[in-house]
Amino acid sequence: MSKSDIKHLAIIMDGNGRWATERGLKRTKGHEAGAEAIRDITTYCAAHETIETATFYAFSTENWKRPKLEVEFLMKLLDKYLKRELKTYQEHNIRFQAIGDMSEFSKSLQKRIKETEELTKNNENLTHILALNYGGRAEITMAVNDLIKQGKTELTQEDISSALQTPYSDIDILIRTSGEERISNFLLWQLSYSEFYFTPTLWPDFSAEELNTILESFTQRNRRFGGL
Ligand code: FPP
Repeated sequence: MSKSDIKHLAIIMDGNGRWATERGLKRTKGHEAGAEAIRDITTYCAAHETIETATFYAFSTENWKRPKLEVEFLMKLLDKYLKRELKTYQEHNIRFQAIGDMSEFSKSLQKRIKETEELTKNNENLTHILALNYGGRAEITMAVNDLIKQGKTELTQEDISSALQTPYSDIDILIRTSGEERISNFLLWQLSYSEFYFTPTLWPDFSAEELNTILESFTQRNRRFGGL
């Protein structure tokens, strides 16, 4: 992989709970720190020469199974995050988009998401996608059902790719923090040709510096393989 191949980066942000527990704090404090950690990574991606899209897993379809209070906290935090980070998006010329089924979110949160998308839609340095109430299987199933509704009886891979909520490009690198080595129903279709990187760092401690080291290691490792 050469540096110019890294166009779409995906991240599974994991380990907020453990970060907080290790410090004797409530899990919610870990989510707050996790929401703060997003800023440095998105601004790094916006400044990066070749990254065009960064897709982060913020809330999965399975996350509803968490205690009600934690789910409510995450919803409020998302609203606060979007309100606070609009400035970052505008200053760094970042477009914000959301994927997933947001129909179960409160009307005010849905409005905040739509507004943030609208206000940043002409920004060009990076598209930052948050996956919210997202599941990869649900996304593929929805795409296939849409195509059936359009009257298609036989599908090509291109048909399915373009009917997904994330049609722009395949993922080049997926990073998951906190030492877990699973993809947890994230971007199943788009990860087909992705490189994977698992770091033990808990999400609130993940830094632009570590991301830079990871990206460098991919380009160097693959250049050596090319020389064999
Ligand atoms: C995993 O930590 C984290 C999530 C539930 C998703 C990511 C959420 C954030 C980064 C904070 C909120 C984000 C926004 C955009 C407001 P965990 O609770 O699973 O950690 P654990 O595995 O250590 O318990």
